[in-house]
Amino acid sequence: MSLKVELLKHQEITTQRLLLRPVRLADAEDFYRIGSDPENNRFTIHYPNMDATLDGMADYWMGDPLGKYAVVLRKTNQFAGAVEVHLDEKNRKAEIGYLITRRFWGNGYAPEAAAALLDLCFNVLNLNRVEAMYDSRNHNSGRVLEKLGMHIEGRLRNDRMDGDVAVTSVVAAITADEYAQKQATANATY
Ligand SMILES: CC(C)(COP(=O)(O)OP(=O)(O)OC[C@H]1O[C@@H](n2cnc3c(N)ncnc32)[C@H](O)[C@@H]1OP(=O)(O)O)[C@@H](O)C(=O)NCCC(=O)NCCS
Repeated sequence: MSLKVELLKHQEITTQRLLLRPVRLADAEDFYRIGSDPENNRFTIHYPNMDATLDGMADYWMGDPLGKYAVVLRKTNQFAGAVEVHLDEKNRKAEIGYLITRRFWGNGYAPEAAAALLDLCFNVLNLNRVEAMYDSRNHNSGRVLEKLGMHIEGRLRNDRMDGDVAVTSVVAAITADEYAQKQATANATY
């Protein structure tokens, strides 16, 4: 069975506080809220109006849905953001991404949702590596990856243009061995 099929079997994931489930058209308002807020969209989706949001839903979130999840608060059923895992089946690795609605920042929701993706990647899909890339100015994103036990592997200087500004991208990753070690330490009793 391919890893994609295995991933398809996990369209809903539950964590302590969150439900990760497929993105729906009814989430459009919430995506618009993130994509149109200058603080929230600085390093991620830009949806200046509802038409752009719906195009984003059709082209990306719902048009290519494998590994993409809405993040919902289990207690209140509120939409709190989205996470994604992009499989590179041939190389047995994946890249993860995340965004959280600004009013919910600072509650550890991104690390909790992304930790569930790491569990899926290593304990279910048996991948060798999970990586993430972020804009070096995006310290919040760097913190999330740190909390997940990822290590910075490199900085791609002048990697891309943000308007007139040449931006440095940071690559961070965790390997299967590091993840197993982290879990063993977490489970240890002394
Ligand atoms: C990056 C992001 C997903 C973090 O989500 P989160 O659920 O708030 O994650 P955490 O609660 O673990 O907070 C991470 C860091 O964000 C910062 N932070 C938390 N609340 C904040 C707030 N209200 N305002 C500004 N920064 C805040 C803190 O530095 C925090 O680190 P700390 O826990 O050591 O203090 C979120 O900031 C976001 O959606 N940003 C826009 C989208 C984005 O950048 N995605 C990543 C693209 S690579």
